[in-house]
Amino acid sequence: MTTDKIDIHRGLADVYFDRTESSFIDGKGGILLYRGYNIHDLAEKSTFEETSYLLIHGKLPTQSELAVFDAELKAARNIPDEVVEIIRATKDSHPMDVLRTAASALSSFDPDAGDNSAEATLRKGLRLTSQVPIIVTTHYAIREGRIPTAPRDDLSHAANFLYMFHGEVQDDDTNDLMDKDFILHAEHGSNASSFTARVVVGTNADIHGAITAAIAALSGPSHGGAAEGVMKMSLEIGEPENAAQYVKDVLARRDRVMGFGHRVYRAEDPRARHLKAGVKRLSEEMGEPKWYGILEAVIEAMKPYARRGIHVNVDFFAGVIYYLNGIPEDLFVPIFAIGRMPGWVLQVLEQQENNILLRPRLSYVGPEEQAYVAIADR
Ligand code: CMC
Repeated sequence: MTTDKIDIHRGLADVYFDRTESSFIDGKGGILLYRGYNIHDLAEKSTFEETSYLLIHGKLPTQSELAVFDAELKAARNIPDEVVEIIRATKDSHPMDVLRTAASALSSFDPDAGDNSAEATLRKGLRLTSQVPIIVTTHYAIREGRIPTAPRDDLSHAANFLYMFHGEVQDDDTNDLMDKDFILHAEHGSNASSFTARVVVGTNADIHGAITAAIAALSGPSHGGAAEGVMKMSLEIGEPENAAQYVKDVLARRDRVMGFGHRVYRAEDPRARHLKAGVKRLSEEMGEPKWYGILEAVIEAMKPYARRGIHVNVDFFAGVIYYLNGIPEDLFVPIFAIGRMPGWVLQVLEQQENNILLRPRLSYVGPEEQAYVAIADR
């Protein structure tokens, strides 16, 4: 029974379990490519719809391919009344719990339910990509005692999300920043939630099950919850001059500074800089420059840790952007889920294409075989 000689890879760190054409991450160089395209180009030049097409279909679309894809996404901007009722019944739960429950419930009403072919999985994946933001905004409206705003098909994915959230169309800069945020969160290889989706698909279960499980995995503070953690931290810090002491105290307790560190990156997360400029602009425009000041001061205080490979990650700047947009903290992780949808769909499709049961082993370190003693004799 001894398993001494087995190499244990706790947390599966640096373990490669398959090949992928999805994204390339160079953790030391701080490089991220989606399907071969640099995240810097996509963040600056693409749109969420175009990036989603790229991720799901493996190539940049032509004008007409993008128009068809966009029309498919827009046509799916609705959720059945029964799911709205489920959202109503669970409205007091955390928005991630509501999202997980509602995404799961959608499978009962999907026209392709029970069809696990690649074509049906793609159709369901596109529908889910459009339905996830509808769930989030519908829940928010119900929780606020408002009638949910109906979607508009003349708005982009990001602009429509903000429109449904606020009940009015936002300006172009605000919509563009949310679009960029979605692009930056869209795909990231074998992260915990995408891996979870693959494990579910590995058993030949369907995409609704995989996305439901992925949402559950994303909800934890070590994965999707960091933006919420950064905002809580910024509110606690209150003023830039308090940041250094705050960071010192967190590290003295051996706690984590939210928005720092990454399992793969040992350099700065290449996604982070694209949101940094957005925080600066937004906090100045709103007459609240202290938020940018607080983040800058935290970065300064964390500088000694850069030597150990602990740098800012994408979620360091995201939280303050959502906050300045009037979005409550508990919706930050659901926003990550909205952005990550095309990545999850891609990971599900790729896993299905060359499927294999994902079933690693645990090295047993419990007691040797022992005699069973009847309950009366224990
Ligand atoms: N603050 C302070 N110390 C840290 C941090 C941090 N944010 N991150 C890592 N460390 C230290 C950690 O204490 C450990 O030190 P020691 O070796 O002395 O015990 C060392 O760095 C290695 O940490 P680890 O936990 O073994 O690294 P990991 O790869 O398991 O953890 C992580 C990665 C993201 C869970 C972790 O860095 C963390 O908890 N960060 C804060 C939460 C966060 O920002 N998460 C968002 C990640 S980006 C979005 C996404 O892709 O999901």
